[in-house]
Amino acid sequence: MSPLSNDTFLRALMREPTDYTPLWLMRQAGRYLPEYCATRKRAGSFLQLCKSPGMACEVTLQPLERYDLDAAILFSDILTVPDAMGLGLYFEEGEGPKFERPLKDENDIRRLTAPDPHDELQYVMDAVSEIRRALDGRVPLIGFSGSPWTLSCYMVEGGSSSDYRKVKSLMYSRPELMHQVLDVTAQAVTTYLNAQIQAGAQAVMVFDSWGGVMSHDAYREFSLRYLRIIAQGLIREHEGRRVPAIVFTKGGGLWLEDIADTGYDAVGLDWTMDLGKARALVGHRVALQGNLDPAVLFASPDAVAEQARRVLDSFGNHPGHVFNLGHGISQFTPPENVSVLVDTVHQYSRQIRTAR
Ligand code: CP3
Repeated sequence: MSPLSNDTFLRALMREPTDYTPLWLMRQAGRYLPEYCATRKRAGSFLQLCKSPGMACEVTLQPLERYDLDAAILFSDILTVPDAMGLGLYFEEGEGPKFERPLKDENDIRRLTAPDPHDELQYVMDAVSEIRRALDGRVPLIGFSGSPWTLSCYMVEGGSSSDYRKVKSLMYSRPELMHQVLDVTAQAVTTYLNAQIQAGAQAVMVFDSWGGVMSHDAYREFSLRYLRIIAQGLIREHEGRRVPAIVFTKGGGLWLEDIADTGYDAVGLDWTMDLGKARALVGHRVALQGNLDPAVLFASPDAVAEQARRVLDSFGNHPGHVFNLGHGISQFTPPENVSVLVDTVHQYSRQIRTAR
């Protein structure tokens, strides 16, 4: 494997000094890019695209051809894991993800087992190795998974939900069954991420997208606990280098200090939190990743640059920041605004470092 020519992202995650603030964008390969839409059309569907390593590799690299991003992220979806557990993932146009066989009763839950990543999920491992080869050391590759709680939301609800009625009633009425789902899922996530690391992922991220919908106590018992179990089971060094792990609980700002203590190297933040205050709370325990409101990208180029500078100013001139959006980029984003964002972050963060 070629040595990395740009390891700024990995160094920022380890809170080492860097010449500028590295950035990548959640969902950087997606429908806002016409070239992505073209490949997806060729694949036939989003799921076919995920399941074809060659095309998944192609779309992973597309945003890097356009923009000077500091990391690539595996093109896949968090729901490939429950799909591999036999739930039957499908996407209905305009309606988001659905499962043919959601977990509807105790029998379904008792039967649930963690999939072998080299069996039903081998296509993901193939994509990881193919992307690593194609990147040829340009920037590091991020692997990812959903958190046990977030995956369980989809597995129990059978798709997206606005009120989490089914999964929350399971959690409150049959907590032991909820824990059974989370236990198996945490095991699945750990082996899945470790297989991605062995296939070539140089950092990993756990998306706890729906952690923020829980109460204070429930978050600790049903999400944080499993995030910690995963952190403890991850391979932390590979190819002679630290493999940093990032955790992102959307809506988790209020619980930042507890999240910073779960054993990850970095914590992702959504746009509701001031980065300077967040940094003061976590000190040197973890790096921070975030946190521009993705809706800023609908505004004028000047507004994009202004808001990006604000995020950099709020973090200040310290090591340990990876610039990102506070959630995934929208399909309605004008691609030109992403160029403005990337250039502003690189230029302005260099400026902050030299001004004393
Ligand atoms: O960041 C990246 O570029 C890597 C790819 C990636 C996708 N999904 C591609 C995708 C990643 C990291 C994800 C994670 C994911 N998937 C999450 C966690 C992050 C988050 O957004 O909170 C969640 C909750 C999912 C589940 C999921 N997948 C939903 C709810 C949807 C539908 C939403 C939509 O925009 O239609 C998807 C589909 C999906 N995953 C798309 C992409 C590019 C759009 C599919 C398409 O091309 O039609």
